[in-house]
Order: sequence, then structure tokens, then C-alpha cells
Amino acid sequence: MDFAGKKIIVTGGASGIGKAITEGIVEGRGHAIIVDLNMETAEKVREELGKNNVTCYKVNLANAEEIRTVFSQILADFGQIHGLVNNAGIVSTVPFEEVTQNEWDKVVSINLTGVYTAISTLYPSMKENGYGRIVNVASVAAKRGGGLLGTSAYAASKAGVIGLTKAVAREGATFGIACNSVCPSLTLTPMTAGMSAEKKEKILATIPMGRGADPKEIANVILFYASDLASFVTGEVSDVDGGVTMDG
Ligand SMILES: NC(=O)c1ccc[n+]([C@@H]2O[C@H](COP(=O)([O-])OP(=O)(O)OC[C@H]3O[C@@H](n4cnc5c(N)ncnc54)[C@H](O)[C@@H]3O)[C@@H](O)[C@H]2O)c1
Repeated sequence: MDFAGKKIIVTGGASGIGKAITEGIVEGRGHAIIVDLNMETAEKVREELGKNNVTCYKVNLANAEEIRTVFSQILADFGQIHGLVNNAGIVSTVPFEEVTQNEWDKVVSINLTGVYTAISTLYPSMKENGYGRIVNVASVAAKRGGGLLGTSAYAASKAGVIGLTKAVAREGATFGIACNSVCPSLTLTPMTAGMSAEKKEKILATIPMGRGADPKEIANVILFYASDLASFVTGEVSDVDGGVTMDG
């Protein structure tokens, strides 16, 4: 995909699906801006892909003030930001009765409020430029009420991301701002690496294709929405899940 001249932020761009997105942007000759908590892995990705192609910023997406400060700095450093991929997220796997208030707040603050804050910091500038491609990574859990890996707090946060995607798409459409989301199912990343074999078997049994995704298979669809190939698409929620969700 062609990202020549485009500067695109990828939250959580240092690992898993985010790393595959970062690679795709650089392969398309764009500049990837990794926003992540883990600067050690982010810097490794930067070295791997070429220091001129990637810039890294440390942000804790649980902290709204920090997001606003660093994203404003990114705007000052780069002038125009063409795309934002809200990919970073954390999972919550305990049954509903065991979710503590702290766990709920943490999951919602990173997975949903962090996405709101990131978009809202960049939105005025995208509006002024008449151009913005926003892609939000949700999950199959948002549509099913969780149950594959992430449970209630995770499912609720990701369902919120879908609602936010549609709202931003609706309001941003006349300003050249497109906003879409992607719902992966089991993807082979550090997030899922620690899962027991028994749990993995159970999950695989619910996936018609019978396997987990390579991160690149998720990134490919995200990159499409971040690119100009998707110029007449907004507010879309794409299942990239090996056939788990077959809705209308
Ligand atoms: N892996 C799956 O099976 C799967 C399935 C459905 C949806 N997803 C979603 O895809 C996205 C990427 O998942 P992944 O599997 O690649 O995860 P991952 O754990 O491999 O990577 C997540 C990245 O986000 C960063 N991050 C986490 N918390 C952060 C914070 N507070 N501030 C800044 N950065 C933070 C991490 O440092 C890491 O680089 C997530 O939103 C996840 O919910 C994953």
C-alpha cells in the first residue's frame, strides 16, 4: 500500500499487531510514529525498520493528560499527521463477578478513554487540513460480549470503541476525516502467547478457519483503512476473525 509522504501514528506500535502495522507503513514508504509505553521494544522496531522511517514517543495511554501533552508535541514536531491507528490495548480475562473496580477503570481508561483522548487531540488539526484517516482496533469480544479471551470489561471497552468510531465517522465525514474499526479474533501476539493450551483449543474450535491469525493478516485490513484505497469508506466495522462473526 502506498503511504509515501504520509505520517501515521500507531499506538502500541512496538509489539504484535501494532508492529505489523508499523512495518506496513514503512513498506509503503510512509513515516510511522510509534506511541507506546515500552520504549525498549519500540526502539528495537525503529532500528529494525530504519531510524529515518520511524519515530518513537513514550506515552502511558491510561493518562489523558500525558496523551494530550505528547500528541500536541507530535503535531508540533511533524506539522501534519495524516493517520492515527488506535491499536494499543490491554485484555481482561476474569469472570464478571471477579472484575474489580480498579480493573474495570484501567481497562476502560486504556482501551476506550485513551482512544477518545488521542482522537480528540488530533481532530482539530485533521479538520483544518481536511484530511485524516483514523482506524480503531476493537475486537470480536465487542460483538459477542467477550468469551473467547477477553471478558466483560474488555468487551465493554471495545464495544465503546465501535460506538466512538461511528460517531467520529459521522461528524468527521464532511471534513475529510474517515474513521473505521477492525475486530480481530485470536491473533498470535505477546498478548495471547501466555494462554493455556486448553483455552487455546477451545477458542480455535469457535473459529471456522480453525487457526489464529498472523498479526500481518490483521494489519493488512487496518492498513487498507489507513490508506487512500479506502477513500469512500467510513464508520465501517470490519471482522477480521477467520469467520467467527458472519453478520449482515
Ligand atoms: N491478540 C489478539 O488475539 C487480539 C484479538 C482481538 C483484538 N486485539 C486487540 O489488538 C490490539 C493489539 O493487540 P496485540 O495482541 O498486538 O497486543 P500486544 O500486547 O502484543 O501489544 C500491545 C502494545 O500496546 C502497548 N501498550 C499496552 N498498554 C499501553 C499503555 N497503557 N500505554 C501505551 N502503550 C501501551 C504495549 O506496550 C504493546 O506494545 C489491542 O487493542 C487488542 O485488544 C488483539
